Amino acid sequence: MKGKFKINKDKIGRLLPEIFESRGYGKEGFNLIKNIGALASSIDLKAFIIGGFVRDVLLYSLLKDKKTFQRYKKAKIFLKNELDLDVIVLGSAHRLTSLLSKDHPGIFKIERIKLHKDFGTSSVVFSVNGKPLKIDFASSRTESYRSHGALPSVNINGSTLSEDVVRRDFTINTIALSLNPEDLFSLKDTAGGISDILDKKISILHDLSFNDDPTRIFRAVRFEQRLGFRISGKTLSVMKEALNGNSMDGVSGKRIVSEFDHFFNENSPWIFFERLKKLGALKSVHQCLSFEGINKEAFKNISMNSIRYSFGKKGSQKLFIIFMAALLCSLPPALFDDVSKRLGLDSRVKGRIYLINREISDLEGLSMNFVKNMKGSEIYKILKKFSDEGLIYYVLREKWDKINKGIYLREGILDYLAKIRFVKPSLTGDDLKKAGITEGKLCGQVLGELKLLKIDGMLRTKTDELSYVLQNYGNKE
Ligand code: CTP
Repeated sequence: MKGKFKINKDKIGRLLPEIFESRGYGKEGFNLIKNIGALASSIDLKAFIIGGFVRDVLLYSLLKDKKTFQRYKKAKIFLKNELDLDVIVLGSAHRLTSLLSKDHPGIFKIERIKLHKDFGTSSVVFSVNGKPLKIDFASSRTESYRSHGALPSVNINGSTLSEDVVRRDFTINTIALSLNPEDLFSLKDTAGGISDILDKKISILHDLSFNDDPTRIFRAVRFEQRLGFRISGKTLSVMKEALNGNSMDGVSGKRIVSEFDHFFNENSPWIFFERLKKLGALKSVHQCLSFEGINKEAFKNISMNSIRYSFGKKGSQKLFIIFMAALLCSLPPALFDDVSKRLGLDSRVKGRIYLINREISDLEGLSMNFVKNMKGSEIYKILKKFSDEGLIYYVLREKWDKINKGIYLREGILDYLAKIRFVKPSLTGDDLKKAGITEGKLCGQVLGELKLLKIDGMLRTKTDELSYVLQNYGNKE
């Protein structure tokens, strides 16, 4: 396999415009990275894209190739809608980003820029074809870890590319793509990343990798399952040693939850948690954290249904709460508190999970109130006091419970989530004032009434609503 496969810079050069186009960045995305390289050259710096984007570009090229498509067809790449690039600069990243932001306003449209002086990094959000494109720039460095799980101390020492990559997690994330015009799109593979992509292997770079940063255990699973790769035998045994040595104890709950959140956003999150369980990684977080049939079924339902429900602006937050509730649902209350403490869940998140649990039992008690062909306004009156998360979780839970009680409640909730909760009267408070209803409390009451009538299809247009108001409240003030 390895021998047959070669990636040349012309091929990458041809694929990149296509990749930026397909993500909605048009030609501008491709031009942006070329311009960054040209600017770096003009001040004698070398800039490379490195990490996940390069790994995925290589996989993209393998997926595009008829000879290798079958082998890689399970790999999920470019999962996010917005691209997120990492650029490594041999020399000072700040020199490059200062120049980008100050001297070339016509070429680089910058939405936000953040410099982190101590770390020698800058985070820049460009506006490309009207869409945000985030690029993190870092000066090449070496890193050392004072204790397991702590954040590293950084040494920006003008290191070479091969010295810099040693601090990274896996070989497949160490391949660098040159942006300088004299070397445009050539690949620098100093740690054997291409060979591991061809072997579909996740390998660490050194034996202390998981001790330095135990969250890499989660990352290894993330890439393995997402890309359809496997963790290499050596890496697996180093991982097991780190787990047996309780390295996870040094990692804060916040960092662990952030890794969980990454899994929630993958295509089939339950597969990742099953693998974590098998490796003993969940138990290493907390002895009682597990992933049984009940969690798995709930995870499956949530993933499959999440697209169906409009979660609105705060969608990913709600999804996070629902997944956390599903993960912790099999724990008895005392253990729930203990595990939440280990995960560093703040009182807001804990409160929302509690609320879901309370709402579930309240909803169970309501199943008798729901009957066939119930009016939408009745459904609304009963369900409006529940949170979206509670309702969604209830329907999903009902499914995995396979207890067919409260079928009309279930139907009512589905109707409420899909339609009823979005119904709003066409008239506004101002319209009511113009119609002579000036008192605030009455105004609220009338709007509530209009909403219920609209839900039941009794009022269809704004004119219908106005006639109703004039008829019923016209002379009342
Ligand atoms: N990295 C690392 N160790 C970590 C986190 C990150 O070595 N614990 C390095 C890896 O080289 C990684 C890069 O930083 O490729 C960027 O991190 P991140 O954006 O989290 O990873 P991606 O590989 O881009 O993952 P994704 O595809 O999920 O965005």
